Amino acid sequence: MTTAKRLNGIGEYYFSQKLREIDELNKQGKNIINLGIGSPDLPPHPDVIKVLQDESAKPNVHAYQNYKGSPVLRKAFADWYSKWYGVELNVDTEILPLIGSKEGIMHICMTYLNEGDVVLAPNPGYPTYRSAAKLAGGTIKEYSLKESTNWFPDFEELEAFVREGNVKLMFVNYPQMPTGQLPTTELFEQLVAFAKKHNVLLVHDNPYSFILNNNPQSLLSVAGAKDVAIELNSLSKSQNMAGWRVGVLVGAKDRIDEVLRFKSNMDSGMFLPVQLAAAKALSLEQDWYDSVNKVYGERRSKVYELLDTLKCEYSKDQVGMFMWAKIPDDYKDCYAIADEVLYNSNVFITPGGIFGTEGERYIRISLCGSIERFEEAIRRISDV
Ligand SMILES: Cc1ncc(COP(=O)(O)O)c(C=O)c1O
Repeated sequence: MTTAKRLNGIGEYYFSQKLREIDELNKQGKNIINLGIGSPDLPPHPDVIKVLQDESAKPNVHAYQNYKGSPVLRKAFADWYSKWYGVELNVDTEILPLIGSKEGIMHICMTYLNEGDVVLAPNPGYPTYRSAAKLAGGTIKEYSLKESTNWFPDFEELEAFVREGNVKLMFVNYPQMPTGQLPTTELFEQLVAFAKKHNVLLVHDNPYSFILNNNPQSLLSVAGAKDVAIELNSLSKSQNMAGWRVGVLVGAKDRIDEVLRFKSNMDSGMFLPVQLAAAKALSLEQDWYDSVNKVYGERRSKVYELLDTLKCEYSKDQVGMFMWAKIPDDYKDCYAIADEVLYNSNVFITPGGIFGTEGERYIRISLCGSIERFEEAIRRISDV
């Protein structure tokens, strides 16, 4: 069967492919330690599970749900944004719960892009921005993020893209994945000013702001941001609920209505008990975030040791669920070191090049594994 032209140039998602290879190696008895993917291994708060259990036992919660999400969940998102980010949102009009923020990226692209519209995407950055924009008919221009400029965009490069024409949408993501770079208020202000000047829709993707970070920031906290920006957020990382698939899009009423026009044709709402449990998760206090971050902090110390064993260089100011590190000069590129570690030490680490060409001399290590697994990985790598 021939596939649609829109799939030309779109490969299977890197991790989907790689996990199959790791399965094969495991079948051969290799027992690979996977330090690649950022899927939290810790459970959600027990009160969250309890809400899911109690609610799903009720007889009247199994029907299709409101396309705009339960008012209980929207209110919980509004309270969460107010409490942690200092951003006020209208419960009825400025919040759209999503089945994970990854689907939101696709919905946004399908809502706004026409054939040939230019989308600015970070290099290195989350690969889904590029594939979703391409699938929707957009043309990608990658803006470079470099270590020497704190992984911030070069506004001269952005202006040059605008001069070339047709820039419609720009993805930004801070704390940045994969580099772990925090934003500054000035950066957010500059981005909003750039988007206003050129009438570009700014899409900020914000799933990592609570991980190893005590100062969560929203791009919508910049004055006037809602005129040009929308923000995606997620319970996958900060609430340990990746498999539950709960995210959100927040922004001005018109933007929410526009995206809903597309999304309401794609799905039929989210299971109500999941939404009510997600609302519970959003009400958790500081001690929840402290408990999660204590575990990630301990693991991060082990990852420092692992990276030292590999003679990589890295910043200790990174936040989020990964460590990003520069590989030694004697390796040809990130793929060479990742393959060496996989095939010689049975440890999988992510080559930074999958996030874009600017990542080709870097690797990324996930903090989603037990201390014992990191210790075993260090042992295996040291032995080789
Ligand atoms: C930068 C970034 N954005 C979005 C996502 C998707 O998160 P969700 O689970 O909410 O779909 C991820 C997941 O790894 C991510 O790293």
